[in-house]
Amino acid sequence: MCGIVGFAGIKNSKEAVLNGLRKLEYRGYDSAGIAISSSDNVLSIFKDKGRVEHLEEIITKDLDGPLAIGHTRWATHGKPNKINAHPHISNNKRFIIVHNGVIDNYKELKYTKLSGFNFYSETDTEVIVNLIEYYSRKYDVSSSIRITATKLEGSYSCLIIDKETPDKIYVLKNKTPLLIGCGEKGNIIASDVIPLIGYATKYTNLEDQVFGIVTKDSVSITDYLGNKLEYNVNQVSVNDEEITLGRYPHYMLKEIEEQPDVIRRLISKYFDGENIIINKDLVSMFKSINKINFVAAGTSMYASLMGKYFFEKLCRIPSEVLQSSELVYSSPLIKDVPLFIFLSQSGETADSIAVLKKVKESGYPTLLITNNIGSTMASISDYCLDIYAGPEISVASTKAYVAQVVTMSILAKAVSGSITKLKNHLKSLAKKTEEILGKKVIIKGLADQIKDAKAVFYIGRGIDYWASLESALKLKEISYIHTEAFSSGELKHGTIALIEENVPVIAICTQEGTNGIVRSNLIETEARGAKSFVISMESLSQSSDSFIIPNVSHYLTPLLTVVVTQLLAYYTAVNKNLDIDKPRNLAKSVTVE
Ligand code: F6R
Repeated sequence: MCGIVGFAGIKNSKEAVLNGLRKLEYRGYDSAGIAISSSDNVLSIFKDKGRVEHLEEIITKDLDGPLAIGHTRWATHGKPNKINAHPHISNNKRFIIVHNGVIDNYKELKYTKLSGFNFYSETDTEVIVNLIEYYSRKYDVSSSIRITATKLEGSYSCLIIDKETPDKIYVLKNKTPLLIGCGEKGNIIASDVIPLIGYATKYTNLEDQVFGIVTKDSVSITDYLGNKLEYNVNQVSVNDEEITLGRYPHYMLKEIEEQPDVIRRLISKYFDGENIIINKDLVSMFKSINKINFVAAGTSMYASLMGKYFFEKLCRIPSEVLQSSELVYSSPLIKDVPLFIFLSQSGETADSIAVLKKVKESGYPTLLITNNIGSTMASISDYCLDIYAGPEISVASTKAYVAQVVTMSILAKAVSGSITKLKNHLKSLAKKTEEILGKKVIIKGLADQIKDAKAVFYIGRGIDYWASLESALKLKEISYIHTEAFSSGELKHGTIALIEENVPVIAICTQEGTNGIVRSNLIETEARGAKSFVISMESLSQSSDSFIIPNVSHYLTPLLTVVVTQLLAYYTAVNKNLDIDKPRNLAKSVTVE
């Protein structure tokens, strides 16, 4: 969580950093702040609770200069307020810092090494900057920062300015992402690649436990002992069009509408004619395992359920879905020969990273399915598959779910080695997704009927239940309506007690084997006053159903039902006039456990 940006250039550093912060707001938006050095080397700090938009209003007009660092915060230590907002400054006012991450031993450092220091905020970050001051009494600035790094336990990406060496941004990186891009007008440092667009065409993705010094025309990277390190160089492959809103009112709607193109892109990337093109080593590795453990969080975990379905049905490999946040603190009994498949849109989810590291240490093979092949997780896992969804900016994940599920369907087909009609199914899926997008007016009508509800329930069985789980997450996270998904068979085991007059219950019915029973479970809720809705598939539909998806291969139906429920969540939040792309308390990359 949190986003940081720094720019060392000839001029216009303020604009580069503000531009970067706007693009990083998806990582947190509790407060924002910036430190700017003017051309005569005077440093000014502006910060406050709230968004980057507000920060821009409080910065002195016409102030700009060659160096700036900025921060957008998702609060971990201390309330979202001005005092806790970054940048933070050392007691002697020499060092200024922005930090993304969590310092686990900050209290210990505060009470041992820094007993004579004053602390103004509740953050762990103030400890870092004062520790640098503490060591600077004896050492030069670079050594002070490197020694400080050796004392820190936890995760951190930090940008530091020293007023005595005002042409430099000092950089520390451990366990949270940080990239350095080199451009003609200066060098830019950021938590993600998108602030680099327009400023750099090449970048380096920093390794853990490195220290860097960035000026307008140089970058030097060392370990904590000061030994020079070589660094990787990557191409900035995202363009501005992919991250601009264009004609859309919200990124969420844009990303929902991009889904047919995402499916088509995956077809073009993973098929050559009728043949599936996936790394042969990866496909043959499946011969050496007899179990798959999927590991993921949130939407990616709900997508994993479809992976389990594909691999069990098509490849006859028993599979399990594990929540990464639970797995970090447990040691499952492993008797089989497993492959661990991690799903992560960002590739930066802290819990998933922690599990991936544990699994690697245990020697099990690992595959990552991700939208960010330059991510921390991609650098650790043995194999990596790109889901080619393009940048997902809205905090609520939509196209990444579809892209993950489609990618897993292709992989499972490749592993099964069966004659494939999958390509045709996927082509038709893209078209049918467009048909659903053409019927938004029906979904808007449904949204009108649920917008005032205090609670909403989704029900289904089998893969309709799994689609319900993702549907409920979407609705609750952006509309703030308490929404739960239940396997409809579980209702009578307790949950039906929650059904009151007019509570919306939405049943998903796309599977022949369970259609009848889910409908009769829905009737049982109606008998207790529920306002019922059915999302069904054409071949199983009844005229009273609320939304009918076109017929599609029975194992791909969640890819259509979630489009309906993504739009239902979207229009419900629009009706309630909520901040759809940046829902309260959330951030896109969950980089703290
Ligand atoms: C919900 C959502 C989250 C993420 C989860 C995992 O809309 O976006 O639940 O799916 O935080 O993130 P990744 O996939 O980046 O590991």
